[in-house]
Amino acid sequence: MKALVVFYSRTGNTREVAQAIAREMPCDIEEIYDTQSRSGIIGWLKSGYQANRQKLTVLKPTNHDPADYDLVIIGTPIWAGFPAVPISTYLVENKDKFNRVAFFATYGGSGFKKTVQKMRQLCGKEPLETLGIKAEEIKDKTCECKIDPFVRDVAD
Ligand SMILES: Cc1cc2nc3c(=O)[nH]c(=O)nc-3n(C[C@H](O)[C@H](O)[C@H](O)COP(=O)(O)O)c2cc1C
Repeated sequence: MKALVVFYSRTGNTREVAQAIAREMPCDIEEIYDTQSRSGIIGWLKSGYQANRQKLTVLKPTNHDPADYDLVIIGTPIWAGFPAVPISTYLVENKDKFNRVAFFATYGGSGFKKTVQKMRQLCGKEPLETLGIKAEEIKDKTCECKIDPFVRDVAD
């Protein structure tokens, strides 16, 4: 099975989980980059506003074609109860290219169910598996015991 892990990360949490997944299974990995700056307080405010309004953005070109993979694992931070704007954009732009998908999200404490529902809707695909990881579980490393079963299930 050929797998690709795709993620966006504004402050590093989602990148950490994506890299941990990629260490556990043979796969390619692709970080999504936005053409808009999202740094600082202005970036934070803009990101929350745009996510809440379900706006899309313009992404920088990517390196991997999702159509080349049996499985694409897509990871996002949760913004205002929604997927991050760059990931919503990626899902919409590639919806006809996905074979199977799985989703993961990192977040402070709320919005996981709604985010997964939105990701499903944006790409029109039912995920094989979903994984939610709170920022505190990344900090204290307890996320590792959630990542292992997730990888086992998607690789089955
Ligand atoms: C604009 C914005 C909105 C956020 N909204 C939520 C939210 O609705 N629920 C939540 O639990 N965490 C929320 N967070 C926290 C992030 O989801 C969390 O810190 C995440 O792990 C960040 O991932 P990253 O480091 O990969 O960017 C928000 C963060 C930002 C920047």
